[in-house]
Amino acid sequence: MYSITFKFEEKGLAPITLDNVSADQSILEIALKNNIELHHNCGGVCACSTCHLYLEKGEEFVDDITDKEEDFIDRAVNPRLNSRLGCQCVLHEGENGTIVVTLPDQTQFLGE
Ligand code: FES
Repeated sequence: MYSITFKFEEKGLAPITLDNVSADQSILEIALKNNIELHHNCGGVCACSTCHLYLEKGEEFVDDITDKEEDFIDRAVNPRLNSRLGCQCVLHEGENGTIVVTLPDQTQFLGE
């Protein structure tokens, strides 16, 4: 089980921490199930950059970034060293840990 904290760059949004999050689902899926807004124009198949987020903590609990994911991150607004695509960060089975992500301001979203 994991604990995930979502932080937000959008002003006025307080962080949300979810406990007892089960593995084998992506950070995008977890966000959407919990009514946390995160765009996903391609439906979660690594074919856009709208689910872009910053993985602040817990990178050891998700698969390493692929070349394809990196290509899409290059097209995201304001990419950083810890940028990931939320739909590609699937939590590993059989581990427990703490994950912290920051979501870019979804209201500032400029396109794919
Ligand atoms: Fe399109 Fe994640 S939803 S790449």
